[in-house]
Amino acid sequence: MSAEVNRRNFLKTAALAAGPAIISARGANRKVNIGWIGVGTRGNLAIEWLHNAAPNDVAVTAVCDTYLGFLARAKARVKTVWGNDPASYLDYHDLLADPNVDAVFVMTPEHLHRDIAIAALQAGKHVYLEKPLAHTIEEGFEIVRAWEKSGKVVQVGTQNRSSSLYKRAKELIEQGMIGQVQYVRAFWYRNSLGNDPAWRYAIPVEATPDNTDWTRFLGSAPKRSWSPERYFQWRLYWDYSGGISTDLLVHQTDIVNFMLSRTTPKTCVASGGIYRWRDDRDVPDTFSAIYEYGDNVHINYSCFFGNDHYGYGEQICGNEGTIEVMNRQDLYFQPETFKGKAPSAVAARKPIHLNGRADFGEGDGVNNHFRNFIQAVLGNEKAIAPPTVGQQAAISGHLATLSFRNQKKVVWDDAAGTYSFA
Ligand SMILES: NC(=O)c1ccc[n+]([C@@H]2O[C@H](COP(=O)([O-])OP(=O)(O)OC[C@H]3O[C@@H](n4cnc5c(N)ncnc54)[C@H](O)[C@@H]3O)[C@@H](O)[C@H]2O)c1
Repeated sequence: MSAEVNRRNFLKTAALAAGPAIISARGANRKVNIGWIGVGTRGNLAIEWLHNAAPNDVAVTAVCDTYLGFLARAKARVKTVWGNDPASYLDYHDLLADPNVDAVFVMTPEHLHRDIAIAALQAGKHVYLEKPLAHTIEEGFEIVRAWEKSGKVVQVGTQNRSSSLYKRAKELIEQGMIGQVQYVRAFWYRNSLGNDPAWRYAIPVEATPDNTDWTRFLGSAPKRSWSPERYFQWRLYWDYSGGISTDLLVHQTDIVNFMLSRTTPKTCVASGGIYRWRDDRDVPDTFSAIYEYGDNVHINYSCFFGNDHYGYGEQICGNEGTIEVMNRQDLYFQPETFKGKAPSAVAARKPIHLNGRADFGEGDGVNNHFRNFIQAVLGNEKAIAPPTVGQQAAISGHLATLSFRNQKKVVWDDAAGTYSFA
């Protein structure tokens, strides 16, 4: 008894003595507790990327998914990568009610972004929200308004902005290395064998309506009966995705906006179709969009899922030179030669080649983007891709989808935040 009392007294005294040290140690090592909503392809990989990006500032305390197979996989991955057992939830509302979660990473299909992000902000959580910001322009504005009211940090997952390679490209353009910029080509080409159709991702053989919450997946999308194709290959259907425009193009219009300090285009006209992968998909596999920014700046965008010789790139074509970022890995600067008649200032500029890995030690911008989000939550930095920026990128994507689906040119009224058809 007396030993117990003594032990208790000792613990109390020790705790009192250690008090300020514990507090200051906590202050110095304050961790952001993360809840992960959506641990499919990207969410599952990103659990590890976050560990690479911010191993000491973060704890992954909870995971949520509506397919039990992926939920179990994510729990195991957190244990392997982070060393702890996270709480697990089927319903994101339950994760948001968990006081042991400060911030959420949302990596669900596009049509759920609005409802989850707004619920998270209302629950007082910071949000890393994958691109595109939302499934429609109107839903994107709802997120922007909720964020403005919340006082919380939101980072949209357009990670190119955090890549040192693109930051360098922006600097070179701003230094005038390529002169006046009026024309941009951006493209994303992919290919695969006939038995591996684009975006027909594998459906887990174990998935059934009993272990997959179809109703929660649908959220506010139109009601339908169970379809594993729609659940696991949601990108192929308009109910859940804007297709190439919101899945791929937004990355490229976003990074062009970043490099050229632009926001939204004035008009967009898009064209394309389902040429290569003629299954029951809704969304095109062949797609071009032409943007006019209204002051003699033009973006020519193209995407095709039947040939990947040219890969991925943005080519910023100035009257004195070209900056090209290829496959998010190689930056090239080439001055114009004017067929041997270049002015001496232009002729003096030497070509540049920088490689993301060799020159910056970066695969792409994702680690920096995660780190920037965590530092913003800790109050040390400003998020580089807040919802206003995510919405600008998404607007370009939505305009392209609207143009394609209506077979009309779309005109964007930035002051009113609305579009009309020309
Ligand atoms: N930034 C990038 O470069 C990049 C790359 C790939 C994907 N993404 C984005 O990441 C997001 C996810 O894409 P993905 O390829 O991982 O898709 P995915 O289908 O592989 O994963 C989505 C996950 O969300 C889960 N889910 C569905 N409804 C849910 C709900 N109501 N609550 C919780 N979980 C739910 C699914 O079970 C699945 O595990 C998309 O917004 C996509 O555009 C971004």
